[in-house]
Amino acid sequence: MNICCIGAGYVGGPTMAMIARKCPDTKVTVVDINAKRVAQWNSDHLPIFEPGLDEIVRATRGRNLFFSTEVDEAIVAADMIFVSVNTPTKTYGMGAGRAADLKFIELCARRIASVATGRKIVVEKSTLPVRTAESLKTVLSANSSGAEFQVLSNPEFLAEGTAMADLESPDRVLIGSESTPEGIKAAETLVSVYAQWVPRDRIITTNLWSSELSKLVANAFLAQRISSINAISALCEATEADVAEVSFAIGRDSRIGSKFLKASVGFGGSCFQKDILNLVYLCDHFGLPEVAAYWEQVIRMNDWQKRRYSQQVVSSLFNTVAGKKIAVLGFAFKKDTNDTRESASIYVCRDLVDEQANLAVYDPKVSENQIRKDLNQGEVLVDGRPNTSVVIEQDPYAAAKDAHAVLILTEWDEFRDLDFQRIFDGMLKPAFIFDGRNILDLKALRGIGFEARGIGR
Ligand code: UDX
Ligand code: ADP
Repeated sequence: MNICCIGAGYVGGPTMAMIARKCPDTKVTVVDINAKRVAQWNSDHLPIFEPGLDEIVRATRGRNLFFSTEVDEAIVAADMIFVSVNTPTKTYGMGAGRAADLKFIELCARRIASVATGRKIVVEKSTLPVRTAESLKTVLSANSSGAEFQVLSNPEFLAEGTAMADLESPDRVLIGSESTPEGIKAAETLVSVYAQWVPRDRIITTNLWSSELSKLVANAFLAQRISSINAISALCEATEADVAEVSFAIGRDSRIGSKFLKASVGFGGSCFQKDILNLVYLCDHFGLPEVAAYWEQVIRMNDWQKRRYSQQVVSSLFNTVAGKKIAVLGFAFKKDTNDTRESASIYVCRDLVDEQANLAVYDPKVSENQIRKDLNQGEVLVDGRPNTSVVIEQDPYAAAKDAHAVLILTEWDEFRDLDFQRIFDGMLKPAFIFDGRNILDLKALRGIGFEARGIGR
């Protein structure tokens, strides 16, 4: 078997590395139009940080895993082509701010159609609006000279930071196909790939539309749990209940379950917001405004939570942060990743920069360039002043030195073990700490002398 994957990103790279690892007889080629990214995949410094990824890439690269920019060549050679390109929220035209931008997917389909010959299985790996497979199939068959295509949906459920463990031992693998004999046969071929390491009863086969929709719904349900507990965190603050205790108490009900009930400054990541917006757009499109409004509230609550946190910082600091140094610890959207897409940290930092605070940002894995890009550093602010109010530090103690407040915005393990006495000693007083991830012992911090606040406690 020869597999090609178009798109060497956070999904395509780790997923194909795992397939190469578990299926030594399969040749896996990951292609991307971004030559810099491909060069990084072929170097000692992979473009993404993911625990366990380096080892697997090192063991398989050059053996049966290849990274290349030769897209056409890889398509021609492949029996199965995974499409794993980005599908961001549209920023222009119809559906702007909500619908998925499918231009990258369509370009891929046209490219596949123009060079492919014989029989090919095309697998949707990217998260897509329900019924995209239909458009994909139409574009493929309208532009091909004689090739035969079967389109499958195989959404990826890995979470960043635990991607390799999720891929190695998934709760389930979902494969959607057309119910025709050819469709079912194509699905079986893909089942045989995963069955090389995933127990057969964890591989679910459904029709195409159920598979496409399940991915959006899974993310919507997960995000909804976070928005629900975040909504309750505000009520906890008003009533002196402790959200961690409430979360623990309700999570012990096996019908509710304990996972994804951690109150935070707000969820981030490339998927949750994008997929819910996409779901909302689909509901509106199909004439279901009540369903659309129901899911949209999950995003609104998340936006409110991020804003509520920034407002709490400003109001606690005597209603002004102008000219004050504030240390921001954590910029990634969660621990164990260098990904910052939709990170709550970006929104909180922007709010504080708007309030004219001076930020000192530290993150163990996110590059300075990325932080500057996300905060539009170097660009001119609305009032005409150059935006130089953010410095990036390589050390959390330097970030906190002479600061009025420390903000914990990503739950990196190393933040739990910081020497808080040392941080306190170096800060201006009163020294504030706002734990946006509820990872610190607030009582101990208060014992040192901090004005310490968590979320919902
Ligand atoms: C998510 C889904 O979990 C995954 O199945 C899908 O394939 C892609 O989207 P990911 O975005 O990588 O994965 O990370 P996830 O662990 O789901 O966290 C998303 C955000 O929610 C993070 O910002 C995280 O910090 C936050 N979160 C998570 C909470 O605030 N509280 C929780 O209890 C759990
Ligand atoms: P994800 O998190 O879904 O993996 P990324 O943005 O990390 O998303 O990765 C998507 C990758 O797809 C990018 O590296 C991008 O360059 C690549 N890509 C987009 N369009 C094409 C295309 N037509 N051909 C090849 N690669 C593409």
